[in-house]
Amino acid sequence: MKRIAVLTSGGDAPGMNAAIRAVVRTGVANGMEVYGVKGGYEGLINGIFTPLGTRDVGGILQRGGTILGSARCPEFKTEAGQMKALRSLNGEGIEGLIVIGGNGSQTGNYALHKLGFPVAGIASTIDNDLWGSDTTIGVDTALNIALESIDRLKITASSHQRAFLIEVMGRNCGYLALMAAIAGGAEHVVLPEVKADPEKIAEVLSAAYEKGKSHAIVVVAEGAKYNATALQAYFTEHQERLGFDIRMTIIGHVQRGGNPSAVDRILASRLGAGAVQQLVAGNYGVLVGEVKGDIVTTPLEEVVNHLKPLDMNLLQLAEILD
Ligand code: ADP
Ligand code: F6P
Repeated sequence: MKRIAVLTSGGDAPGMNAAIRAVVRTGVANGMEVYGVKGGYEGLINGIFTPLGTRDVGGILQRGGTILGSARCPEFKTEAGQMKALRSLNGEGIEGLIVIGGNGSQTGNYALHKLGFPVAGIASTIDNDLWGSDTTIGVDTALNIALESIDRLKITASSHQRAFLIEVMGRNCGYLALMAAIAGGAEHVVLPEVKADPEKIAEVLSAAYEKGKSHAIVVVAEGAKYNATALQAYFTEHQERLGFDIRMTIIGHVQRGGNPSAVDRILASRLGAGAVQQLVAGNYGVLVGEVKGDIVTTPLEEVVNHLKPLDMNLLQLAEILD
């Protein structure tokens, strides 16, 4: 294989640039020409390629976002879109593709694999819901950003004896919320995976004050049925009875920005190199991820047919430690 391409797709994640850099430099070290695709699958459909040499990826290791740009591209979900992408790849003489992204992106990657194109995937999403990797690129940085917010909110919450709802991203997965709750010492966590009852949450908050705490922090996953907006509305409607003047902070996309942590840079570097090695070895149609500290491959077919479950033992831990 002499010419490969790399793209970033879906939600950007801190560390994507480190992965691009590793793909380019490992590719070059293996005698390949490497092309970047601009704007995810949209760029692939429209044939927007740019050659990337080792110097082109200098100075990006420490930068968040993605130098290639990312996109959500509905057209790529159609067979017509995928055929256009295939024509772009063949037209440019590209023999292998590496897709850096989460669940949706790897589903698209699998579609190309089924069409016979040699691909490999790199596990990258802040949501950490991807089967085939214990942790994915961007998770550690996003978690640290959430933690910084929680630590700050605790300070002001303590000054005013207030209760705070803090909503974190994660789509339908509660991983970020649960880990942020444990690492941030939250009083309670609301997850998509567990049915929530606002009345029970009110009891938890009262108990926190009764224990002598000066604050009460509830971390809420955006994908929970009672997200922060719904919970605040409930608490406002029943304010007199519940007795809480609750404040809400939604961290939102702030969580995706920022420079990647050391953990994300190292993970991205290892996965980037690993993905090129799979193409070199002719091991196509796999996701490259990290399991128990090792870089491993999982067939994309398996990846797209599973969702990584949340470790419920960690919820118990959060409840014991609150
Ligand atoms: P992520 O990869 O972060 O989970 P998305 O779910 O938004 O992000 O998916 C990113 C892109 O992957 C989509 O915009 C689309 O182009 C492609 N994609 C998602 N699902 C599919 C699918 N079922 N078939 C083909 N391509 C898909
Ligand atoms: O998948 C990453 C993610 O940040 C999710 O946590 C979130 O639900 C979604 O992307 C937000 O999507 P967008 O950036 O398109 O608003």
